[in-house]
Amino acid sequence: MSQVDAREAMVLDLLLEADGGVVSGQFLSEKLGLDPSEVYRRLNGLRCRGYGIQRLRGGYRLEQMPDAVGHLEVGAFLTAAEIGRVIHHREKVPSTNEIAFRLARGGAFHGELVVAEQQVRGRGRCGRNWFSPAGLNLYFSVILRPDLETARAPELTFVVAVALARALGESLEGPVGIKWPNDVQIQGKKVAGILPELHAKGNLVDFVVAGVGVNVNMSESDLPVALAGKATSLRIEKGRTFGRPRLLAGILDAFEDTYNQWIDEGFGPIRDAWLSLDVTLGRKVRVGDEGGENLVGEAVSVDESGALVIRCPDGGLVKVVSGDVATFLGA
Ligand code: BTN
Repeated sequence: MSQVDAREAMVLDLLLEADGGVVSGQFLSEKLGLDPSEVYRRLNGLRCRGYGIQRLRGGYRLEQMPDAVGHLEVGAFLTAAEIGRVIHHREKVPSTNEIAFRLARGGAFHGELVVAEQQVRGRGRCGRNWFSPAGLNLYFSVILRPDLETARAPELTFVVAVALARALGESLEGPVGIKWPNDVQIQGKKVAGILPELHAKGNLVDFVVAGVGVNVNMSESDLPVALAGKATSLRIEKGRTFGRPRLLAGILDAFEDTYNQWIDEGFGPIRDAWLSLDVTLGRKVRVGDEGGENLVGEAVSVDESGALVIRCPDGGLVKVVSGDVATFLGA
């Protein structure tokens, strides 16, 4: 963060702490050790970024915050120590995963985040596109550098899915489910997806880019026809818009808590949490792999490594480590 940004962040913190109250220029200047003209410049800098700051008789009041997802906006709500402490905020990118992968190859640290207002080639699982219109949703990628053998890397998918479901459940104040391995759903419709991409060094993880897309403020009419009936957004479910900076900060905080739980306690508690959120087990499913093969059966369990165990019509058990799961209506 530049010095100017850091000073704007400090002024913003004090305005936020006042919680809608008025803060005098003298208080800001004394508290921050900045001369009054510098405080004035920083207040104007914040206004240029879209903050509504009213000048009143006793000082200044924060009346409106922009819905951008830059460092200043997200940082105002973030408590995580590592995840999201460095934010690369972009207006328009091909894919945040692509940018994060490049940054990670160049040595970016654990926890660095790439977030964009829009993606023009947003990537989904199984080679699909991820619909990423400007300014409405969240599209971000976190760089993770766990000390880990590649064989355990799939666990991270579950860590991210659990964190995401926890954070969205809290914001929605309602139930969200996870369809194996990592589609986050509300009432059977997808609201968020995860695309983890691994870079290995021998049999060790060099880094993982965990890409996350969350449908936040799209209305029904924003959804492409192909997604109608399959996808939803927080706004569609709750009938109101959501502030993206606060939502993203909440997800990053949950991400860090869940990641640390996994580091400290291993995969067991993550798997348990995942199972408590699961909407796949016990249902008839069809699993398509990337080669176009289909397997139909009943989803019976998730093993210690996170693989989905399917009971086939002949009674045989098959473990699936990746693929696209469709559930049958009513099954
Ligand atoms: C899925 O198909 O369920 C995974 C979707 C992942 C989308 C996110 S949006 C941010 C990041 N960048 C991408 O190109 N994809 C992921």
